[in-house]
Amino acid sequence: MAAIVINGQEFGLEGVEPSTRLASFVRQTACDKSVRVACGSGLCGSCAVLATPPDGGEPRALNSCLTPVGSMAGWSVSTAAGLGCSARSHHPVQERVAAFHASQCGFCTPGFVVGLGAGLERAAAAGRQPAAAELAACIDGNLCRCTGFRPLMDVCKSLAGGADIEDLGLHSAYSPCSPEAPPPARPTSAGAARKGPLRLQAGGRTWLAPRSLQELLQACADAGTSDGGGDGGDGGGPVPRFVAGNTGSGLFPQLWPSDCPLVITLGGVEEMRTVTEAEGSLVVGAAVTIAELIATLEARVPGGSPTPGGAATDNGLANGGGTADAASVDDGTAASAAGGAAPTPPPPHPCAALAGLLARVAGAHVRAAGTVGGNLMLAREQGLESDVATGLLGWGASVVLLNTSSEAAAAAANNAAGGVHATNGKNGAAVGAPEVPLEDFLGDDGSPGAGRLLVAVRLPLPAEGAYYWTSKVAPAHSSVHATMNAAVGLRFASGSGGSAHGAAVADASVALGYYGANRWAVHRAAAAEAALMGRQLSPASLAAALKAVVADVAGAARPSAAAAMAQGLMLQALVPRLAGAAGGADDGGEGPLPPALRRLLRVPAPNQAPPVMRGRQEFEEAPEGAAPLGAPMEKDRVLLQTSGEAQYTGDVPLPAGAQHAAWVTASEACATVEGIDAAAALAAPGVVAFICAADLPEGRNSVAFPMGASEPLFASEQVEYHSQPLGLIVATSQEAAKRGAALVRVAYGPPPEPPVLSLAEARRRSSYYKMPPPIAPADQVEGDPEGALAAAPRAIRGRRVAVPANYHLYLETQSALALPDEGGAMKVWSAAQDIGMVQKAVATALGKRHHEVEAVCRRVGGAFGGKCTRNLPVAVAAALAAAKTGRAVRFVQDRQTDMRLMGGHCEALAEFDCGFTEEGEIQSLSLEVFLLLGAFPDVPLDGMNLASMITMAYSIPNLSLKVRLCRSNTAPTTFMRAPGDAQAALIMESVVEQVAAACGLDAALVRERNFAEPAESGGVVRLALKKEVPAADYTLPRLWARLKESAGYEARCAEVAAFNLSNPWVKRGLGMTHTRFDCGVPAKPAYVSLFTDGSVLVQAGGSEVGQGLTTKVKQAALSELSQLLPEARRPLPAELVRIADQTTNVLPAGNLTGGSTTSEAACHGVKQACGVLRERLAPFAADLGPEGTWGQLMAAVAKANGLSGCQKVPLTAVGYSAELEGGCDARYTVWGAACTEAEVNILTGERRLLRTDCVMDCGRSLNPAVDVGQVEGALAQGLGMVLSEERRMCAATGRLLTDSLWHYHAPTAAAMPRQLNVCLLPGSRLERSTLSAKAVGEPPLMLAASALSALQAAVRAGRAELAALGASSGGPSSGGASSNGGGGEDGSERLASGGCEGSDGDASLLQLPASVDHVMAALCGARGRDLAAAVRAAASDAR
Ligand SMILES: Cc1cc2nc3c(=O)[nH]c(=O)nc-3n(C[C@H](O)[C@H](O)[C@H](O)COP(=O)(O)OP(=O)(O)OC[C@H]3O[C@@H](n4cnc5c(N)ncnc54)[C@H](O)[C@@H]3O)c2cc1C
Ligand code: FES
Ligand code: FES
Repeated sequence: MAAIVINGQEFGLEGVEPSTRLASFVRQTACDKSVRVACGSGLCGSCAVLATPPDGGEPRALNSCLTPVGSMAGWSVSTAAGLGCSARSHHPVQERVAAFHASQCGFCTPGFVVGLGAGLERAAAAGRQPAAAELAACIDGNLCRCTGFRPLMDVCKSLAGGADIEDLGLHSAYSPCSPEAPPPARPTSAGAARKGPLRLQAGGRTWLAPRSLQELLQACADAGTSDGGGDGGDGGGPVPRFVAGNTGSGLFPQLWPSDCPLVITLGGVEEMRTVTEAEGSLVVGAAVTIAELIATLEARVPGGSPTPGGAATDNGLANGGGTADAASVDDGTAASAAGGAAPTPPPPHPCAALAGLLARVAGAHVRAAGTVGGNLMLAREQGLESDVATGLLGWGASVVLLNTSSEAAAAAANNAAGGVHATNGKNGAAVGAPEVPLEDFLGDDGSPGAGRLLVAVRLPLPAEGAYYWTSKVAPAHSSVHATMNAAVGLRFASGSGGSAHGAAVADASVALGYYGANRWAVHRAAAAEAALMGRQLSPASLAAALKAVVADVAGAARPSAAAAMAQGLMLQALVPRLAGAAGGADDGGEGPLPPALRRLLRVPAPNQAPPVMRGRQEFEEAPEGAAPLGAPMEKDRVLLQTSGEAQYTGDVPLPAGAQHAAWVTASEACATVEGIDAAAALAAPGVVAFICAADLPEGRNSVAFPMGASEPLFASEQVEYHSQPLGLIVATSQEAAKRGAALVRVAYGPPPEPPVLSLAEARRRSSYYKMPPPIAPADQVEGDPEGALAAAPRAIRGRRVAVPANYHLYLETQSALALPDEGGAMKVWSAAQDIGMVQKAVATALGKRHHEVEAVCRRVGGAFGGKCTRNLPVAVAAALAAAKTGRAVRFVQDRQTDMRLMGGHCEALAEFDCGFTEEGEIQSLSLEVFLLLGAFPDVPLDGMNLASMITMAYSIPNLSLKVRLCRSNTAPTTFMRAPGDAQAALIMESVVEQVAAACGLDAALVRERNFAEPAESGGVVRLALKKEVPAADYTLPRLWARLKESAGYEARCAEVAAFNLSNPWVKRGLGMTHTRFDCGVPAKPAYVSLFTDGSVLVQAGGSEVGQGLTTKVKQAALSELSQLLPEARRPLPAELVRIADQTTNVLPAGNLTGGSTTSEAACHGVKQACGVLRERLAPFAADLGPEGTWGQLMAAVAKANGLSGCQKVPLTAVGYSAELEGGCDARYTVWGAACTEAEVNILTGERRLLRTDCVMDCGRSLNPAVDVGQVEGALAQGLGMVLSEERRMCAATGRLLTDSLWHYHAPTAAAMPRQLNVCLLPGSRLERSTLSAKAVGEPPLMLAASALSALQAAVRAGRAELAALGASSGGPSSGGASSNGGGGEDGSERLASGGCEGSDGDASLLQLPASVDHVMAALCGARGRDLAAAVRAAASDAR
């Protein structure tokens, strides 16, 4: 019987629907919740499992969300819980992730554990120690939204051999994993080995797993399909659907093979799984995975790959980690390859070049499952932005195809019966398989390939002296689609070895992939090829190719931008060969190259994986006597997070008969609703009920938010934004609920008025919210901005700064579970930042009293403000469904719906006039800021916060500010980490940036010149707009100076200038910015119970969302209760304290988690409660004397209380932080600063961060390890906002176009600065708070502005270079690019719509986010650029 083994236990697959996702099977059938589905599309890795194939081959980590269980028969699968859990021992990876503070909310953590576990196992099996870069490559593609990745990279280093242990700081004692100390064995089983072609049948569907091409062909022949194709061709049988790795369904969900009558899996077909060498070619079976092809190619590189899997070399470590000196910035980068005195290095071996490109395909887990053939089919039929297709096209590959209609298959099966090896091109022909050039395969009509099997790909082995180069321009290193990709293959006339001035190009294969008008285009660049063919490689032919390639991208969605990028790529492609042939600098054949040209022959190397990130953390020791408060204590229950045993709302066990829910959402942005018909849905299998506004009593169709705002739970008469919920389908499974929701028909009438879909449109139509101050801030003015502007020596007028909207991307989507209780009461689990709000909202919707509703939350898988209020509709809907059906209802939003419904940070646009001196002192600033709040105001704090934070630390004598809150027909925005503060900082720092640019001054200097002066002694510091902060709070000058010194700012400015001088195509910049954050500390309740066995249970107001609240609360309880013990016996063991789930049955109010101060407020409350208990127990402690133990103390209390347990000493106490001095509503300001060095490739717009140094004032930290993690995580989120994250709407329908992680680019490890140093400012105190701590969750987010500042500087240097080259004085074509934010409904249009217009006012200024597109726009301005002319000019200069 076919079976799968999960964590050593065998599960039969008979009768199991074969298309069931492995993730669902593991969670539901194997009851293992450590597998988490956070994206469902292969782009986060949280669902990873470690899988060993039936033949016992190499284990690999796979995304179980993309793996149908039907293709896993005979496999043995381990989850994170299988690697180690509390019932057994933990795996070394788990122990280190816990010890290194590499897990915050923990939702992503099991995925990381599995990825690293796979790397260790592979290395152990090969009998070697893994390198850090190799381990980092194993989690390439795993997403974490909390940690900033640095601690995860430290885990890689600690497990690897050869790491510099200094780099691991506190954790340097950990020894690496080695063949002598391999990871512990995990429970596996040989599995149910296959005996014959496997057949699974369920629900009328058949899945076949043939083992040979002959069996496959026989299956096709038996299916009885004719040539006609279709679902049941003339032959009457079903068209077989081929499934290889099934990863294609991650990007194209319609490909999920759920409704196919006949599925044939390709993973077991021997001939398609092998790579053979025959007649000067590699014949790669179509079912060979991308990872396997990489390994094959690397094995052919003389000397091999430095680290298996195409990972970066570990050069980051070789430099001696953790030092802060400028020289330690890793130079194994594009820049070093390009610059300094070093010439362009010799081109890599062609196989290494192709492997380098393939290593950037997807993430590690997709590469481990996704096949070469599957990729090419997706490129041909779905318009996938394929790197594989471009890379292989430039290589000159061809494909072997088979017709699998039954007649043809029968004939071929007969041919194959003799044991023909069909993956060999020649033998493929023997079974009737024609070989087709790849360009013909990709370029035919793109009609579905039903009836066509791609058997193999033939790669001619490169001839001696042949040259191959390939690259991908993309928003990030991997797990992201290309913006453009290219591959160039050159063969030279025999004998020459390809000398630049020797033989002519005999064969040129130039492939380009880019966004065409309607979909991704990949083709040979005929014009560029023609320019090269028959000519020697020389400056002249290079210039000709650069000129010609412009015509090759004429069909691009944005021809001008595409031409600039294609020229950049061609230059990068051809120069290494040209420079190599010319001896790197001098022309061996025709005398020296002109110096100007020689300088240009230093290009960045392509596809360089970043080295493993490193960093240094500095903080003060815990004060004496306070421990464990103030110590870097391990996170509470972190080992449960690493093994996946930690429970989130979606993991709470369901009672029998539980149901699931899915929204029915609007497909219009603004329309009247004429009718909703759910009949078809109700008739669908599994669907139980439909709920809409009509089911709710008058006045109950609403979710009320604080501050009086409310919005309907279900749209009824009118739809206000695309995807707004109209109803809810309740069904027996999540899949059935989703399918049912899609069947509900909604009839729309004409909209009352056209929708407002953009900020520009809102302004044009004066679509503003009218709300009272401070929600809508009153206009503010100080001094005489207009008069001062007129009088200022310098001025910039009418400038704009646009800050795009971004999305929370917590890994746990909005989730709730409603459990009906007796008498109509309801218990609701909600992933919530405020369970009190959940209780009230559910009670209101159900018409119950508050005490009839219990809201519960244990932990939240990331929130970032998105679960303050936007969790309420999900919780209320689940409760309504449970009330209606009388059953438990779980409602977990899928990622796409979550992205569409969550407004995130609101988009902002600032217009300003600014007057200043030649020295950059700002004398006048008039700002008008527009914030796009969306269709409902939710909790519109952004305007209020922006108005209060806009001045940052600046003292501007004449300033006016107007803030407008715009209404639009888009999803409501809500709190998001630093709401309003983030926009304020980015706007204000951009204003200063523009002033500095206008003055030609260093922006950091201009910042300093405008900072408020410290007060002479005591008193207050005056900021602009009459804002004052206590002088004692104004730590900015101190931390700014410290940062300047520790980052080596002055010296590095000089180094960057020198670097830029000698590197034509890579430019660096340094940026230094600051952050200010005003905090209010709310009162928080706490409830502490002591048990007579000595254990302690604590409940504190606030949710654990990954920020370490429960850890700090535990530390506070331990520290406070330890005071009862003699000093020698302190502190109490940590395991004595347990933090209870939050429930409104215990603490009904004061639970809001937000504003970064919840942890400190909760600690106040806990200290208060513990103080009460201390007082009660003090006499008993005194009786015990200096030798007393905690156990004796509790025994004495128990004795006193007698049998009833509570006669004398109550063992429970309530605390409330307001009762502590200054604890309630205490206000203070947090400061911080960061310095970032960034680098830009001015040929393609690619950018990367080299190093960031942060200094944050956290007062005296409650837990410095947690707080460093908060700084790193907030910075990472800010970097996403600044560099890559952008929500884009369809201009016509208002649909969110960036509704998947394929189109919404959050930072992965590769996007982080290579070196990240964090210092918690020593000696800072806030005496009125617990231990003198300050808030840390939100303020560091704004430090990401330093990256923008650094990029601005790099771009300015790039523009200067281009201007000097004369490369911007004409263009491949004139005219800029299309505007940002447009785009149509389909995927290709959406990506083509990426912004590429120059900024308003000053084209040298970057638009946010500083994506590749925007960097190119800022580099080229609106005029494009002609590198051909620049090369020609340089070549002729010295002649
Ligand atoms: C998250 C993610 C990121 C990605 N990033 C990149 C990237 O950066 N660059 C890039 O180039 N690609 C990228 N991809 C695409 C990835 O490479 C492909 O999904 C993968 O190679 C497809 O192989 P598969 O075996 O999973 O195909 P499947 O999903 O099994 O099949 C895909 C399609 O091809 C058909 N098919 C498969 N094999 C054959 C065959 N031999 N003959 C006929 N039909 C066949 C199937 O019927 C199906 O229609 C990404 C994919 C994901 C999910
Ligand atoms: S849930 Fe599978 S990769 Fe994200
Ligand atoms: S710890 Fe990684 S997403 Fe929260």
